[in-house]
Amino acid sequence: MAEGANELEGRNALITGAGSGIGREAALLMAGAGARVIVCDVDEAGGTETVSRVGAAGGEADFVHADVSKANDIKNAVEFAKSHGGLHVMFNNAGIFPDDDGSPPDTTEEVWDLVMNVNLKGVFLGCKYGIPAMIEAGGGSIINTASFVAVVGAATSQIAYTASKGGVLAMTREIAVEYARQGIRANALCPGPVNTPLLEEFLRDPEKKARRLIHIPMGRLAEASEIARAALYLASPSSSYVTGTTFMVDGGITAAYVTPE
Ligand SMILES: NC(=O)c1ccc[n+]([C@@H]2O[C@H](COP(=O)([O-])OP(=O)(O)OC[C@H]3O[C@@H](n4cnc5c(N)ncnc54)[C@H](O)[C@@H]3O)[C@@H](O)[C@H]2O)c1
Repeated sequence: MAEGANELEGRNALITGAGSGIGREAALLMAGAGARVIVCDVDEAGGTETVSRVGAAGGEADFVHADVSKANDIKNAVEFAKSHGGLHVMFNNAGIFPDDDGSPPDTTEEVWDLVMNVNLKGVFLGCKYGIPAMIEAGGGSIINTASFVAVVGAATSQIAYTASKGGVLAMTREIAVEYARQGIRANALCPGPVNTPLLEEFLRDPEKKARRLIHIPMGRLAEASEIARAALYLASPSSSYVTGTTFMVDGGITAAYVTPE
C-alpha cells in the first residue's frame, strides 16, 4: 500500500469550488485516500461531473450546491457533513479572479466587493460554520486557499484579488493559533500560477504569459494535481504537527531574485 493510502478513511471532507481545477483534483485525491467528499460549487454541472469522476474511480462523493458568499449555503453544506458522520476536513478553495480587477484607480467598488465576498468572506463563512462542526467531530483540518500573491507584490496589479488572499493568509494564521489545543489545524495553501480555467483566458495572451513565466524558477505553471497533493497532505494525519503555515507550492517564485535563463 502506498504511503498515506486510506489516511482519510472514515473522514468527511468538504471542498468548496470542487467543480473545477484544484478543487476537483483534491476531491479525487481525498476520495482516493478514503474520504467521503462533499463537493460544493455554484456550478452544478461542474460539481456533478466531479462527483461522477470520484464515483468512477471507486470513491464516495455528494454534490451540495453552495455559493460560498452566502451564509445559508455554507451552513447547509456543513449540516450535510454533520448528518453524514461529521466534518473532519474543510478545504475552503473556491475563488474568483475577474479580468476587470486591476490597479486601485481602475478597480470599481463592485469588483472589489464581489472578490471580497467570494474569496475572503467565503473563507470566513467556511470557518465560521466549519469550526464548531469540527470541534463536535473531535478535531480536524482546515485548508484555506490563499496564493503566492499574498506574500509578494506584482507590478501587474489585481488589487482586490491580492488583498483578498492577504486576508485569507492572516485569518488562517489566527484560526490556527486560537484552535491549536482543540484538535483543529489550519493552514493557508499558497499556490503559484496554476494551469486551470481560472487563468486560462487571462494567459491566452502569449506576452502576458511570458511576462509571468520569467519569474518562475521552474519556468512553467503548476498542474492542478500538484496543488491538490499539497491539500491532501494538509488534510491528512501525515501533517499532524503542521499548523498556521503559509504553505507555498509555487515552483520557487517566492524564493527567487534572478531566475535561470
Ligand atoms: N489558478 C491559479 O493560478 C491559482 C493561483 C493561486 C491561487 N489560486 C486559488 O485556487 C483556488 C481554486 O482555483 P482554480 O485555479 O482551481 O480555479 P477554477 O476556476 O478552476 O475553480 C474554481 C471553482 O470555484 C467555483 N466558484 C466560484 N465562485 C464560487 C462561489 N461563490 N461559491 C462556490 N463556488 C464558487 C467555480 O465555479 C469553480 O468551479 C481559488 O481560490 C484561486 O484563487 C489559483
